[in-house]
Amino acid sequence: MTENEATVAAVDWEAYEREASAAVAAASGPTELEDARVGYLGRKSELAQALRGVRDRESGMLLNGIRERLEAAVTQRERTLEGEELDRRLREEIVDVTLPGERLPLGHLHPITQVRRIVEDAFLGLGYEIRDDREVETLEYNFDKLAFAPTHPARSPRDTFFFDESHVLRTETSPSQIHALEEHEPPIYMVSIGRVYRRDAITATRYPIFHQFEGLAVDEGITLADLKGTLLHVMRALYGPERRIRFRTHFFPFTEPSIEPDVSCGICDGAGCRTCKHTGWIEMGGAGVVDPQVFENVGVDPERWSGFAFGCGLERAAQLRHDIPDIRLLWEGDLRVLRQF
Ligand code: DAH
Repeated sequence: MTENEATVAAVDWEAYEREASAAVAAASGPTELEDARVGYLGRKSELAQALRGVRDRESGMLLNGIRERLEAAVTQRERTLEGEELDRRLREEIVDVTLPGERLPLGHLHPITQVRRIVEDAFLGLGYEIRDDREVETLEYNFDKLAFAPTHPARSPRDTFFFDESHVLRTETSPSQIHALEEHEPPIYMVSIGRVYRRDAITATRYPIFHQFEGLAVDEGITLADLKGTLLHVMRALYGPERRIRFRTHFFPFTEPSIEPDVSCGICDGAGCRTCKHTGWIEMGGAGVVDPQVFENVGVDPERWSGFAFGCGLERAAQLRHDIPDIRLLWEGDLRVLRQF
């Protein structure tokens, strides 16, 4: 008897098969099943070793029978486990497409942009063209063609940011009037919105960068009454339907007469409060009837055409709309502030 023949005889194969079948049946996952397979059918298992030493037909049939049945049991168990795993995943990984999605944090427009859109909408509704002009201007467009006197203080580098002798950061949106007049024959109805720059110290009411909206209407027979109606329309869009407008006389180089329009205070409705400094009125900017000199500077006939112009600050509008006490809050980008508007 060889060693292997001895092994065949030494093992209780019925018990071996029972044990192996039980282990396969009890395997609760692929790893356990593989362990059972290796233990009872693998190269080093008693069964494999015994099979290697088989010499007689009877033990060959016995052991091969066991092997085939155990292999079949393993395959069977494998399928069952796969089926259970699939069921589990179908149950657990179910996607309910009707559940509400995860909420993404949504931002919103900056208060200055909100005000800008309101102004744009109001003027688009009146048939105005919206312009966006350059922020670096020549002295010619920022001052000369707008009829600023050679000695006007705004021409000083103390008030204005200069790049070189002939280029500045525009100090107002009024140069857009010149660009519009040079680009189009009247009639012209345009609003230009954008940033302007002045060498001011930063305080609660002043910031060296700010925004203006500038309007120009040029047509036949335009009067101050048209200006008043137009401003009233925009101020109502910005501050509500009850606003009133009044004009105070003023001076600007490019308008004659020049006025400063006031809008009635929306907080106290004209009765007087802190916001309007107890006057009932809030100053909006500058305006007037286009000076004939400006028309002559751009080759438009002042005998035939007349027009009005105005310029107002957007920060001021945002502050008034939302009761924002300090202009710096609009520029600091602090989300705790901006989220409120
Ligand atoms: N540009 C002036 C300023 O910044 C405002 C202004 C006044 C604009 C009169 C105009 C105007 O169009 O006609 O103070």
